[in-house]
Amino acid sequence: MSLNKARLDRFLAQHCQISRRNVRLMLAQDRVLVNGKLAHDIDEVIDTFSHITLDGQVIQANSAHYIMLYKPVGVVSATQDVIHKTVIDLLDFPYKEQLHIVGRLDLNTSGLMLLTNDSRWSERLTLPESKVSKRYLVTLKNKLTADYVEAFASGMYFEYEDLTTQPAKLTILSNYQAEVELFEGRYHQIKRMFGRFRNPVVALHRHTIGNLSLDPQLPLGASRALTADEISYI
Ligand code: URA
Repeated sequence: MSLNKARLDRFLAQHCQISRRNVRLMLAQDRVLVNGKLAHDIDEVIDTFSHITLDGQVIQANSAHYIMLYKPVGVVSATQDVIHKTVIDLLDFPYKEQLHIVGRLDLNTSGLMLLTNDSRWSERLTLPESKVSKRYLVTLKNKLTADYVEAFASGMYFEYEDLTTQPAKLTILSNYQAEVELFEGRYHQIKRMFGRFRNPVVALHRHTIGNLSLDPQLPLGASRALTADEISYI
């Protein structure tokens, strides 16, 4: 759901099918509450999640939802797909059709996926200037060598997009396993970065976004609502 903003008088005039002059009257008569407070200002800006009552009747009450999903390999990060199961298909929430995906994962990548109907929150997470970190566990076909670390940190030029990737942190965990921390999300970024070394990625798993980690209690394919603390971590 996009966070549509509107002026309170326009919203009420449209909702109640009355003139804005009558809306002004309604406000002056203390009949409208926005988020529990008496509204008097016709210029007040409301959004999709503003709770609005008129004469004690609720006329808008949308809640924001924030979901963590443990995405399995083989499930597509889309809301609809004719071939594969989608992350939305995995959810068991009545309002799931309203949700959008925050930061996609490839079909053959597993791990932490976030979904929400709060576009302001998801924008904060995905805007390149926000530089929210995402950490991935990567398993490679060929042995890793120390020179990868510098190459990831320096950034790599991607001709198709005509850009150089932001410095990324590569930590070698064993001969074939590494952790990669990215601060952006370019198309197939990790696979393309290892591709520079002709080293195919055989498994990719995202375990954190910002300060939020995939809940170790969450079974593969399962999801749960984020806690208030988790929502504010990001
Ligand atoms: N980089 C990739 O190549 N794939 C993902 O799914 C995420 C990051």
